Formats: sequence, structure tokens, C-alpha cells
Amino acid sequence: MAISSAPFIHPLCQAEFRKCPFLSSKPQFLPHLLRFKSQRTIHASSAVTLESGLNTQNEQEIQVDVFSCPICFEPLKRKGPPGLKISAIYRSAFKCKGCNKFYSSKDMYLDLTVTSGLRDYSEVQPARTELFRSPLVSFLYERGWRQNFRQSGFPGPDEEFRVAQEYFESSKGGLLVDVSCGSGLFSRKFAKSGSYSGVVALDFSENMLRQCYDFIKKEDTLSTANIALVRADVSRLPFPSGSVDAVHAGAALHCWPSPSNAIAEITRILRSGGKFVGTTFLRYTSSTPWIIRPFRERSPQGYSYLTEEEIEDLCTSTGLTNYSSKTQQSYIMFTAEKP
Ligand SMILES: C[S@@+](CC[C@H](N)C(=O)[O-])C[C@H]1O[C@@H](n2cnc3c(N)ncnc32)[C@H](O)[C@@H]1O
Repeated sequence: MAISSAPFIHPLCQAEFRKCPFLSSKPQFLPHLLRFKSQRTIHASSAVTLESGLNTQNEQEIQVDVFSCPICFEPLKRKGPPGLKISAIYRSAFKCKGCNKFYSSKDMYLDLTVTSGLRDYSEVQPARTELFRSPLVSFLYERGWRQNFRQSGFPGPDEEFRVAQEYFESSKGGLLVDVSCGSGLFSRKFAKSGSYSGVVALDFSENMLRQCYDFIKKEDTLSTANIALVRADVSRLPFPSGSVDAVHAGAALHCWPSPSNAIAEITRILRSGGKFVGTTFLRYTSSTPWIIRPFRERSPQGYSYLTEEEIEDLCTSTGLTNYSSKTQQSYIMFTAEKP
């Protein structure tokens, strides 16, 4: 596997290395064995070592990371402390092995959107995505907004988490990605459970990720846990194909700009045997009167409320198997597995 021997530090990335003053700006390439955090080992023809006098052996390596580039999906090389801890990611710089694009942490999250680092262009997504980028909605989300879901049949975070953990039994010990994590309600529970080697709390909303960080900061056990905050679009998930053990997406499918692209992406990143567990609001259930159904076809915010049949159809169309679901009023929790 050839890795360019061009100097690793791009001028645009100097700020990252100022955050991390112990890193050398004159790396040398040497053959090395690169190791993923989740215990997977890969071989590469070269890696970077740093100048002498540095802290630990781990910090002297450039590793191929669990993250990949959202543009070309090549794995990212990382310079900085290893692991998924927020502090380690904040002190690291990431560069795509394929297209050489740099990615950096902003505030306390790593921005792995295609538009990361752009100065002039800012992406505006559909209303159902933009709504959650607002600071007010992000602040209110765990302070009343989410509790309202109970009226539609959501059993509440504790019960939803309990059932999800049962579905994820065979994924335990691996990497879990909480897609569209919001302010991290479930990411924090997954990280606290100690069941996974790492948890990635991923959302498109900068303000949801800031809220998530504020919640994590308040809990000693979490601030040192292997939980990373990543900004990404569910339609361009920044992970290599077949690299993730479990994907959770709570109350999210109806917010995605394209549920089919999102589920295709989730299927791509899951390893064989990996599990997908999601919850959402159904458009209607078998008990919804026929007369009311046409009014539920489109919601004012343009949410994609699907039927049970559509969700199963989407999952199976991307190749997921062993689909099953539980419903309660408009609430559905579904699971499927990558063959
Ligand atoms: C209703 S919240 C769900 C939060 C949490 N998972 C839960 O169970 O309460 C939906 C989340 O989907 C996120 N979202 C919307 N569009 C997205 C996209 N294109 N990519 C990633 N996340 C997106 C929003 O930012 C929001 O945080």
C-alpha cells in the first residue's frame, strides 16, 4: 500500500499542530505496522515517526484511523495521540491517504463533512435537517423536546436503550456509531455501558454536538471514555466499508434528506454480521383510520414518515437481512444485520 512521502503538514493544517505543540513539523517516513483502535491490524509500507524527545511510543506514530474521507472513502492518516477520546482527537490532525484533504477538529468535534474547511460555501440542507442545527432546538432537545415523543408511543430513553443493547449483543466489544446522535442521549449511554471498544457520536448539527460535549463534560466517567464527536452527513459516512460493528440511529430516519441513501451508507460501513438498530415515527399504523391516512402522507416540515413496510423494504433492498421490528402507536424500533 503506497503512502505518499510528501511532507504531511499542509499549510492549512498548521493550526492543528499549534494545538499539539509536541508534534514535529518535520516527520520522516519509515516502514511500520499500523493498528486500528478497534484491535484490527493493517499493514502499510510506510508511516511517520516524529523527532525524538516525544511523550509516548503511541504518540510517535502516524496511524491509519477508524475514520475515512467522506469524499473518496480512503482511510484517514492521523497525526497525534491515538484513540477515540475527545481530547486525543482534538489534539490530532487527519489527512486523507487518497485525496490528501485535511480534516480538523472544530470546538470539540471532528468535522468530517465534505464541506469541512471550506471558507465561502456553506451547505443548507432540507428543513428537517436545518431545524436541528439551531442552537435553541439543540438546547431544548433533552430539556423537554424529546420527552414529547412519548405521546407517539416512544417508550423513553431507558427502555429504548435496553432493547437496543439486546439487539447489539453480538456487536459488543466492537465499534458503535450512533448516527444522528443529536445531543448524545444514546451515545452517552452506549459509552457508559462499557460494552464497546469505542463509540462515535455523529451528527450533522454543530450545535447538537456542542450540547453533547457539554453533557459529556459534566460526567467524570464520560470525559475520559472512548467517545468521539464527529460532524458528518448520514449520506456520506466517514468510515471505510465493512469497518463498523454496530450502527444506532435513534429517532432519526424521518429527519434524513434521503432515507434510502442513508440506509445504503449504513449498510456499506457495517462489517459482515454487524447490526443496525433504528427508531422512528411511522406515517401510520394498521390501526390508523383510512380516512386520516392521506393527511399523513406529507408533514409540514417535510419529515419522511415511512410505513412499516417501507422501512423493511429499504433495509432489505440494501442487502440487510434478519429484519425485525417492534411497534407501539407511531413508534417503531427495527433491526437488521449485514450478511
Ligand atoms: C430527532 S433527532 C434524534 C436525536 C437522538 N438520536 C435521539 O434518539 O433522540 C434527529 C437528528 O438527526 C440529525 N440529522 C438530520 N439530518 C441529518 C443528516 N443529513 N446527517 C446526519 N444527521 C442528521 C439532526 O441533526 C438531529 O440531531
